[in-house]
Amino acid sequence: MIAPSDPDPLFAANHALAFLKCRKPLSTIVARYAGIIEQQLGNRMDIAALDIGCGVGHFTFPFARLLSRHHGRIDALDSSPAMLDLLASRIAESGISNIRLIRDDFLSFRADCRYSLFWLSDVLHLFERLDPVFSKISAAADNSFLVAIRMSSHEQLTSYEWSRYFPDALDADLRRHHDVAAVEACLRHHDFSSIEIQEIDETRLVPAKEYLRCFELKYLSSLRLLPESKYQVGMAALRAAVSRSTWVTRNARTTLILARYENRAAQEGSLCRL
Ligand SMILES: C[S@@+](CC[C@H](N)C(=O)[O-])C[C@H]1O[C@@H](n2cnc3c(N)ncnc32)[C@H](O)[C@@H]1O
Repeated sequence: MIAPSDPDPLFAANHALAFLKCRKPLSTIVARYAGIIEQQLGNRMDIAALDIGCGVGHFTFPFARLLSRHHGRIDALDSSPAMLDLLASRIAESGISNIRLIRDDFLSFRADCRYSLFWLSDVLHLFERLDPVFSKISAAADNSFLVAIRMSSHEQLTSYEWSRYFPDALDADLRRHHDVAAVEACLRHHDFSSIEIQEIDETRLVPAKEYLRCFELKYLSSLRLLPESKYQVGMAALRAAVSRSTWVTRNARTTLILARYENRAAQEGSLCRL
């Protein structure tokens, strides 16, 4: 693992465990993202990817497998030691050898190689300003590269079933999340040649007990931003609402943005090697 940085209390050990248990996307959904990315890669080989804010690696593993078919590798970067510790133990169990862990804040990260794929899943809202993120990506990028962003739009956030029980958490999320049009505008400002936006429906049925357990673990970081009293009021209402159900529908429509940058003048710097 490379370079330590300050731990973020929002993504400390108990949240990392909750994240591992409760935020794992269905394998069919992960396969769908992997299929879309693979289509974008075409027959390119020796690809180096950077998973920015990788968390416990819900997408790092499938992408590492995909990239190994392209003789590629993935660097998994996160500022949270707790998330990376969990990811490290999962990598050790998996036997996968094309993942490198980097502990750093992305905005102060100094890449030692050039990447041609950047994956940002559920992380863009944790950066207050978009411009420094895309400048940093450009500085670490190969001549042609793809940026893939998985995020929630304001409309999608508002449609999440839990938001009526935790309106202040929804407000916090609406404040933190960038507008999709603003992300697109910033990508255009950074001269991306093609930008594609699509909706992926990750809605699923979850056993009611498991659903409640995840809320008890405060698996959404916006729940951790609430004063305890407001969180408890929401929990009481949520428990009452799901008490007679066996299953709960977890609404999870998300937005995937694919932005391609083509053929800028060759620049100095080495390509990432295994
Ligand atoms: C909501 S989680 C998403 C994890 C993963 N991408 C996924 O979709 O499963 C956000 C992650 O971004 C990390 N993070 C937040 N700000 C960061 C920063 N400035 N630099 C690096 N990682 C950051 C957090 O530690 C956390 O693990």
